[in-house]
Amino acid sequence: MGEVDQAFIQSIEHRPNLDTIEIEGIPLIDLSLSHTTDINVLVSKIGTACKNWGFFQVINHGVPLELLEKIKVAAKAFFDQTMEEKRKVKRDEVNPMGYYESEHTKNVRDWKEVFDFLIKDPSFLPASPELEDDEMRTLSNQWPENPPQFREVCQEYAREVEKLGYKLLELISLSLGLPSNRFNGYFEDQLSRMRLNHYPPCPCPELALGVGRHKDAGALTIVAQDDVGGLQVKRKSDGVWAPVKPTSNALVINVGDIVQVWSNEAYESVEHRVVVNSERERFSIPIFIFPSHYVMVKPLEELVNEGNPPKYKPYNFGKFNVARNRSNYKKLEVQNIQISDFKII
Ligand code: OGA
Ligand code: NI
Repeated sequence: MGEVDQAFIQSIEHRPNLDTIEIEGIPLIDLSLSHTTDINVLVSKIGTACKNWGFFQVINHGVPLELLEKIKVAAKAFFDQTMEEKRKVKRDEVNPMGYYESEHTKNVRDWKEVFDFLIKDPSFLPASPELEDDEMRTLSNQWPENPPQFREVCQEYAREVEKLGYKLLELISLSLGLPSNRFNGYFEDQLSRMRLNHYPPCPCPELALGVGRHKDAGALTIVAQDDVGGLQVKRKSDGVWAPVKPTSNALVINVGDIVQVWSNEAYESVEHRVVVNSERERFSIPIFIFPSHYVMVKPLEELVNEGNPPKYKPYNFGKFNVARNRSNYKKLEVQNIQISDFKII
């Protein structure tokens, strides 16, 4: 990426503090259910983590550890290729899946390159964010020829993590006092996607960010990260940026905007960002669990009542997603769409 271009520079208030700090981090939850662990204990741990942090890490999550290793190797092998090779699967305004190196978050360019693919291929999305326009478009994946096993490994990993995603959604549903299958119907035509992130070493880590501060728009995100570190979570208790400590064999989980709306803010989608460093490259692999495009996202009826009225107006997930993605390509003059646009004041 060469010298640090102006497009990467964060405004002063959003620049990271690079001092290493030792502070209380997000909870680590063991998902194994031995005969000594009561499911209710697990559900309550998940509920508390969602409430206090919006983030937690899990171990004994069921995703085979050798697969976790394989996907990290595949990510490195893909990004290690020449730009010419990677650009063969470059995404554009027509096809948002594939390779991309100039994503913007909050209108500042991220110090990263990514490869995106859909879990369900093809997927269907509204053609435009305009509510009165009911034209649809088809999204499909672009797979590179190289590295040779890349596609297979990505798809195998995605299948395993997807299973974990639904298991976690069941636990989250139980933690809200709802039946475990309460969310199942929303994902029949899921728009979930997986991303490989590569954060190259950055000559000015005090000015730029790997990913600028943001909240994830989906229901749930599941991230595999290497041992470099850099992911930071805005701690709810005091607004301090807390590092997510790389933990071997663990996956990082965070609830997204949709769970915030479904739960009527019992659980909040928490801001996070990625700090880069001048020495080591970093890889991370998130899976964003998204519902079907036609899902109207709104606070669940069982969770609202006179004393706790709905805090959001219903919104169409497909339209929201299309509107949101527009800002990934260019600097917009205005603030991008957010769930707060649907907030009932
Ligand atoms: C993201 C994200 C975190 C990471 O891609 O939305 O927050 O650790 N990534 O790379
Ligand atoms: Ni994120």
